[in-house]
Amino acid sequence: MKTLDLSSSASSSSSSSSFSFPVLKKIPLSPYLLTLLAPLALVAVLYGEEFFFNLGKPKLNTAPVVSTTDEKKTGKLPFAIGKTEDGCDIFSGRWVRDDLNRPLYEESECPYIRPQLTCQEHGRPDKDYQHWRWQPHRCSLPRFNATLMLETLRGKRMLFVGDSLNNGQYNSMVCLLHRLTPGHTKFIETNNNSLAAYTTKEYNATIEFYWAPFLLESNSDNAVIHRITDRIVRKGSINKHGQHWKGADIIVFNTYLWRKGSFDDEKKEIVRLTTEDAYRMALKNLVRWIRKNMDPQKTRVFFTSMSPIHVTSIEWGSKAGGNCYNETTLIEDPTYWGSDCKKSLMRVTEEVFSETKFPITFLNITQLSSYRKDAHASIYKKQWYPLTKEQLANPVSYADCIHWCLPGVQDTWNELLFAKLFYP
Ligand SMILES: *[C@@H]1O[C@H](CO)[C@@H](O)[C@H](O)[C@H]1NC(C)=O
Ligand SMILES: *[C@@H]1O[C@H](CO)[C@@H](O)[C@H](O)[C@H]1NC(C)=O
Ligand SMILES: *[C@@H]1O[C@H](CO)[C@@H](O)[C@H](O)[C@H]1NC(C)=O
Ligand SMILES: *[C@@H]1O[C@H](CO)[C@@H](O)[C@H](O)[C@H]1NC(C)=O
Ligand SMILES: *[C@@H]1O[C@H](CO)[C@@H](O)[C@H](O)[C@H]1NC(C)=O
Repeated sequence: MKTLDLSSSASSSSSSSSFSFPVLKKIPLSPYLLTLLAPLALVAVLYGEEFFFNLGKPKLNTAPVVSTTDEKKTGKLPFAIGKTEDGCDIFSGRWVRDDLNRPLYEESECPYIRPQLTCQEHGRPDKDYQHWRWQPHRCSLPRFNATLMLETLRGKRMLFVGDSLNNGQYNSMVCLLHRLTPGHTKFIETNNNSLAAYTTKEYNATIEFYWAPFLLESNSDNAVIHRITDRIVRKGSINKHGQHWKGADIIVFNTYLWRKGSFDDEKKEIVRLTTEDAYRMALKNLVRWIRKNMDPQKTRVFFTSMSPIHVTSIEWGSKAGGNCYNETTLIEDPTYWGSDCKKSLMRVTEEVFSETKFPITFLNITQLSSYRKDAHASIYKKQWYPLTKEQLANPVSYADCIHWCLPGVQDTWNELLFAKLFYP
């Protein structure tokens, strides 16, 4: 099996010191925090001709109703076989220790996890992070039924589109299903065109991942070589990738780790936007693309909300200078949120999705994952470059507090996806 480095360079970028970030300049942040937050601050957009349309400021009166974008809009949704109990928000709940039923698979039994996420293989000493189940406050999640999922996908195509976090969710889904069809699998990876596909012959089902970290065309689109410090997206370019998404029956989008930058070759007509405006632009493009190209009677569209990072231990009351490294317990404060631009981007997401009639199911995983400082890959992953002596002496300096070990938190994201797919 070949492996792609689909990890975001946010975890390893060492060159951000050369960035200038007017927005963040005055805030006294540790250099480490800057490395990770700065990329979220600005994004530049090529080709100004389209720039001035469609960048409306947020309306101030938006009510917090997003997870309900679904059945009210079109009646029965495809694949639905039941309903979640009235009044139950499955994203509102708590983590419960469950040694009996978690993990849902063993790391060693699923060959499809990227080496950036196989924490046990890379020496993680504890396994506690694998033993938590998400328990909504007002109801219980349906049990993930791989048979039902595969039966549903018979002759169909499920597609994950987005960045390295979405790739983790894709890996998790493949592992959740793989258990049922051992020996009947094929794993295809094509080098640059961003596609990984898992097919099961027995069920004639295809589960794919498409690398498009910013959804629009960007200079980070090469799935192998995308450790580019300067990143930009091209306005109005969604079709470049979108043409490959047509015909999917279930499609799961995400996009989050936004950064600024430029193509090497084309420096002209770059417009800098705030992260919020750029994010809004990409989401509006996405929604328009979905409306034009997807049939709500046939296709289910999901959007996974932002995956939280744990790079600043002081945020959860530990001593300063740490991050997720050596964290093995959960954050217990139910109001814990952390700091970065998640909140404003969540608001943008709500606004954009509430304006469309197309049912897009929002997988609101941000809050529930933010309790899980224990569950990141940390230092227990394949390193792409040899570590220096200084790094080795100070593991905090190279811990990945963005991506998640598998099995782990992202299996829960798929349990939530399962719940929303069959019991919207
Ligand atoms: C996401 O879920 C959290 C936890 O229940 C909730 O506080 C928040 O309002 C939700 N956000 C959206 C946009 O639905
Ligand atoms: C899982 O789904 C299959 C196919 O719909 C069904 O026959 C089976 O009873 C389900 N299993 C459980 C434990 O619900
Ligand atoms: C498998 O599914 C594809 C659609 O994804 C369909 O075109 C093809 O005919 C199916 N093959 C079999 C053997 O059912
Ligand atoms: C893949 O990317 C490399 C480096 O950008 C390039 O040299 C090569 O031609 C690409 N291959 C294909 C098939 O596009
Ligand atoms: C890791 O945490 C444990 C207790 O939580 C502590 O005793 C130990 O010193 C920590 N190790 C490092 C290297 O920080």
